[in-house]
Amino acid sequence: MAGAVEIRPLARDDDRGGFSCGHPDLDRFFEHYAGQNQFKLHLAVTYVAVVEGRIVGFATVAPASVERAAVPSARLRKRLPSYPLPVLRLARLGVDTRAQGLGIGRALLRHVLALAVHQRDRLGCVGVVTDAKPDAVAFYEGLGFAPLEGVREGLLVSEPLPMFLGIETIAAAVEP
Ligand SMILES: CC(C)(COP(=O)(O)OP(=O)(O)OC[C@H]1O[C@@H](n2cnc3c(N)ncnc32)[C@H](O)[C@@H]1OP(=O)(O)O)[C@@H](O)C(=O)NCCC(=O)NCCS
Repeated sequence: MAGAVEIRPLARDDDRGGFSCGHPDLDRFFEHYAGQNQFKLHLAVTYVAVVEGRIVGFATVAPASVERAAVPSARLRKRLPSYPLPVLRLARLGVDTRAQGLGIGRALLRHVLALAVHQRDRLGCVGVVTDAKPDAVAFYEGLGFAPLEGVREGLLVSEPLPMFLGIETIAAAVEP
Protein backbone atom coordinates (compact mmCIF):
# COMPACT_ATOMS: atom_id res chain seq x y z
CA MET A 1 0.00 0.00 0.00
CA ALA A 2 2.84 2.43 0.83
CA GLY A 3 3.73 2.46 -2.89
CA ALA A 4 0.43 4.23 -3.68
CA VAL A 5 0.87 6.89 -1.01
CA GLU A 6 1.14 10.54 -2.00
CA ILE A 7 2.73 12.81 0.59
CA ARG A 8 2.11 16.55 0.21
CA PRO A 9 1.58 19.66 2.33
CA LEU A 10 -1.84 20.07 3.92
CA ALA A 11 -4.16 22.19 1.74
CA ARG A 12 -6.68 24.69 3.13
CA ASP A 13 -9.64 22.74 1.74
CA ASP A 14 -8.54 19.26 2.83
CA ASP A 15 -11.24 17.35 4.69
CA ARG A 16 -9.74 16.72 8.12
CA GLY A 17 -12.83 15.33 9.83
CA GLY A 18 -13.19 11.63 10.50
CA PHE A 19 -9.47 11.03 10.95
CA SER A 20 -8.63 8.86 13.94
CA CYS A 21 -5.20 7.54 14.89
CA GLY A 22 -6.31 6.28 18.31
CA HIS A 23 -4.96 9.29 20.23
CA PRO A 24 -7.75 11.88 20.70
CA ASP A 25 -5.24 14.69 21.34
CA LEU A 26 -3.55 14.05 17.97
CA ASP A 27 -6.90 13.75 16.18
CA ARG A 28 -8.10 17.02 17.75
CA PHE A 29 -4.88 18.74 16.76
CA PHE A 30 -5.20 17.54 13.18
CA GLU A 31 -8.85 18.51 12.81
CA HIS A 32 -8.85 21.84 14.65
CA TYR A 33 -5.33 23.28 14.86
CA ALA A 34 -3.11 21.97 12.03
CA GLY A 35 -4.72 24.37 9.54
CA GLN A 36 -4.54 27.55 11.61
CA ASN A 37 -1.01 26.73 12.78
CA GLN A 38 0.05 26.45 9.15
CA PHE A 39 -2.01 29.07 7.30
CA LYS A 40 -2.64 31.77 9.94
CA LEU A 41 0.06 31.52 12.60
CA HIS A 42 2.89 30.02 10.50
CA LEU A 43 4.07 27.91 13.44
CA ALA A 44 4.48 24.64 11.59
CA VAL A 45 3.71 22.79 8.37
CA THR A 46 1.68 19.59 8.23
CA TYR A 47 2.27 16.99 5.53
CA VAL A 48 -0.48 14.53 4.75
CA ALA A 49 -0.32 11.01 3.36
CA VAL A 50 -3.10 10.46 0.85
CA VAL A 51 -4.28 7.13 -0.52
CA GLU A 52 -7.04 7.04 -3.11
CA GLY A 53 -8.06 10.60 -2.23
CA ARG A 54 -8.34 9.93 1.51
CA ILE A 55 -6.00 11.35 4.16
CA VAL A 56 -4.58 8.35 6.02
CA GLY A 57 -1.78 10.01 7.97
CA PHE A 58 -0.09 13.28 8.83
CA ALA A 59 3.22 14.61 10.11
CA THR A 60 3.69 18.14 11.46
CA VAL A 61 7.14 19.73 11.41
CA ALA A 62 8.69 22.99 12.59
CA PRO A 63 12.22 24.32 12.94
CA ALA A 64 13.60 24.10 16.47
CA SER A 65 16.87 23.96 18.38
CA VAL A 66 18.59 21.71 20.92
CA GLU A 67 21.46 22.30 23.32
CA ARG A 68 24.71 20.50 22.57
CA ALA A 69 24.58 18.75 25.95
CA ALA A 70 21.34 17.03 24.92
CA VAL A 71 22.73 15.44 21.74
CA PRO A 72 22.86 11.67 22.44
CA SER A 73 26.21 10.97 20.77
CA ALA A 74 29.48 11.78 22.54
CA ARG A 75 31.30 11.77 19.20
CA LEU A 76 28.91 14.32 17.72
CA ARG A 77 28.82 16.47 20.91
CA LYS A 78 32.60 16.85 20.72
CA ARG A 79 32.39 18.37 17.24
CA LEU A 80 29.54 20.79 17.92
CA PRO A 81 29.62 24.29 19.47
CA SER A 82 27.86 25.03 22.76
CA TYR A 83 25.11 27.29 21.47
CA PRO A 84 21.60 26.16 20.46
CA LEU A 85 21.82 23.88 17.43
CA PRO A 86 19.32 23.94 14.55
CA VAL A 87 17.12 20.85 14.19
CA LEU A 88 13.84 19.93 12.55
CA ARG A 89 11.15 19.06 15.09
CA LEU A 90 8.69 16.33 14.20
CA ALA A 91 5.96 17.82 16.34
CA ARG A 92 3.19 15.33 15.60
CA LEU A 93 2.73 12.10 13.67
CA GLY A 94 -0.41 10.04 13.28
CA VAL A 95 -1.71 7.31 10.99
CA ASP A 96 -5.41 6.49 10.81
CA THR A 97 -6.13 3.24 12.69
CA ARG A 98 -7.61 1.76 9.48
CA ALA A 99 -4.24 2.26 7.73
CA GLN A 100 -1.78 1.44 10.52
CA GLY A 101 0.80 -1.29 9.95
CA LEU A 102 0.92 -0.69 6.18
CA GLY A 103 4.07 1.42 5.98
CA ILE A 104 2.38 4.86 6.05
CA GLY A 105 4.15 5.96 9.25
CA ARG A 106 7.48 4.91 7.79
CA ALA A 107 6.72 6.76 4.52
CA LEU A 108 5.81 9.95 6.43
CA LEU A 109 8.99 9.63 8.51
CA ARG A 110 11.05 9.21 5.38
CA HIS A 111 9.51 12.38 3.98
CA VAL A 112 10.36 14.26 7.19
CA LEU A 113 13.95 12.98 7.04
CA ALA A 114 14.23 14.24 3.46
CA LEU A 115 12.97 17.65 4.67
CA ALA A 116 15.73 17.65 7.32
CA VAL A 117 18.35 17.13 4.59
CA HIS A 118 16.74 19.97 2.62
CA GLN A 119 16.94 22.17 5.76
CA ARG A 120 20.57 21.10 6.28
CA ASP A 121 21.48 22.34 2.80
CA ARG A 122 19.58 25.61 2.99
CA LEU A 123 19.40 26.68 6.63
CA GLY A 124 21.48 24.30 8.73
CA CYS A 125 20.22 21.22 10.58
CA VAL A 126 22.02 18.75 12.85
CA GLY A 127 19.16 16.27 13.20
CA VAL A 128 15.48 15.59 13.84
CA VAL A 129 13.91 15.67 17.29
CA THR A 130 10.55 14.32 18.34
CA ASP A 131 8.58 13.84 21.55
CA ALA A 132 7.72 10.15 21.36
CA LYS A 133 4.58 8.97 23.08
CA PRO A 134 5.39 5.96 25.31
CA ASP A 135 3.77 3.47 22.94
CA ALA A 136 5.62 4.94 19.95
CA VAL A 137 9.14 4.89 21.49
CA ALA A 138 9.86 1.46 19.95
CA PHE A 139 8.68 2.73 16.55
CA TYR A 140 11.23 5.56 16.68
CA GLU A 141 13.97 3.34 18.10
CA GLY A 142 13.43 1.01 15.17
CA LEU A 143 14.23 3.95 12.89
CA GLY A 144 17.44 4.81 14.78
CA PHE A 145 16.20 7.56 17.15
CA ALA A 146 17.80 7.73 20.62
CA PRO A 147 16.59 9.62 23.71
CA LEU A 148 18.05 13.10 24.18
CA GLU A 149 20.67 13.17 26.95
CA GLY A 150 19.48 13.97 30.45
CA VAL A 151 15.77 13.98 29.69
CA ARG A 152 14.68 10.65 31.19
CA GLU A 153 15.32 11.92 34.72
CA GLY A 154 12.16 13.38 36.15
CA LEU A 155 9.94 12.10 33.34
CA LEU A 156 6.85 10.11 34.25
CA VAL A 157 6.49 6.84 32.30
CA SER A 158 3.32 8.25 30.73
CA GLU A 159 5.11 11.37 29.45
CA PRO A 160 6.53 11.75 25.92
CA LEU A 161 10.23 10.97 25.56
CA PRO A 162 12.28 13.52 23.55
CA MET A 163 14.30 11.60 20.94
CA PHE A 164 16.95 12.54 18.36
CA LEU A 165 18.29 11.24 15.05
CA GLY A 166 21.51 12.80 13.73
CA ILE A 167 21.72 14.32 10.26
CA GLU A 168 24.51 12.00 9.08
CA THR A 169 22.39 8.94 9.79
CA ILE A 170 19.44 10.67 8.16
CA ALA A 171 21.40 11.56 5.03
CA ALA A 172 22.69 8.00 4.72
CA ALA A 173 19.09 6.75 4.89
CA VAL A 174 17.52 9.12 2.38
CA GLU A 175 20.23 10.15 -0.07
CA PRO A 176 20.75 7.97 -3.13
C1 LIG B 1 3.15 5.03 15.49
C2 LIG B 1 2.48 5.14 14.12
C3 LIG B 1 2.69 6.55 13.56
C4 LIG B 1 3.15 4.11 13.18
O1 LIG B 1 2.58 4.24 11.89
P1 LIG B 1 2.28 2.94 11.01
O2 LIG B 1 1.87 3.39 9.66
O3 LIG B 1 1.34 2.07 11.73
O4 LIG B 1 3.73 2.26 10.98
P2 LIG B 1 4.40 1.47 9.76
O5 LIG B 1 3.40 0.51 9.18
O6 LIG B 1 5.01 2.44 8.82
O7 LIG B 1 5.52 0.66 10.51
C5 LIG B 1 6.91 0.88 10.33
C6 LIG B 1 7.66 -0.04 11.25
O8 LIG B 1 7.44 0.34 12.62
C7 LIG B 1 6.87 -0.75 13.33
N1 LIG B 1 5.91 -0.17 14.28
C8 LIG B 1 4.76 0.46 13.99
N2 LIG B 1 4.17 0.91 15.12
C9 LIG B 1 4.97 0.54 16.13
C10 LIG B 1 4.92 0.71 17.52
N3 LIG B 1 3.93 1.40 18.13
N4 LIG B 1 5.93 0.20 18.26
C11 LIG B 1 6.96 -0.47 17.65
N5 LIG B 1 7.07 -0.65 16.34
C12 LIG B 1 6.09 -0.15 15.58
C13 LIG B 1 6.24 -1.64 12.30
O9 LIG B 1 6.17 -2.97 12.74
C14 LIG B 1 7.19 -1.49 11.15
O10 LIG B 1 8.35 -2.26 11.33
P3 LIG B 1 8.90 -3.22 10.16
O11 LIG B 1 9.10 -2.32 8.97
O12 LIG B 1 10.17 -3.76 10.73
O13 LIG B 1 7.83 -4.20 9.94
C15 LIG B 1 0.96 4.81 14.17
O14 LIG B 1 0.79 3.52 14.68
C16 LIG B 1 0.14 5.80 14.97
O15 LIG B 1 -0.36 6.78 14.43
N6 LIG B 1 -0.04 5.53 16.29
C17 LIG B 1 -0.87 6.36 17.13
C18 LIG B 1 -0.32 7.76 17.28
C19 LIG B 1 1.14 7.78 17.72
O16 LIG B 1 1.57 7.04 18.61
N7 LIG B 1 1.88 8.68 17.07
C20 LIG B 1 3.26 8.89 17.38
C21 LIG B 1 3.25 9.99 18.36
S1 LIG B 1 4.82 10.43 18.90
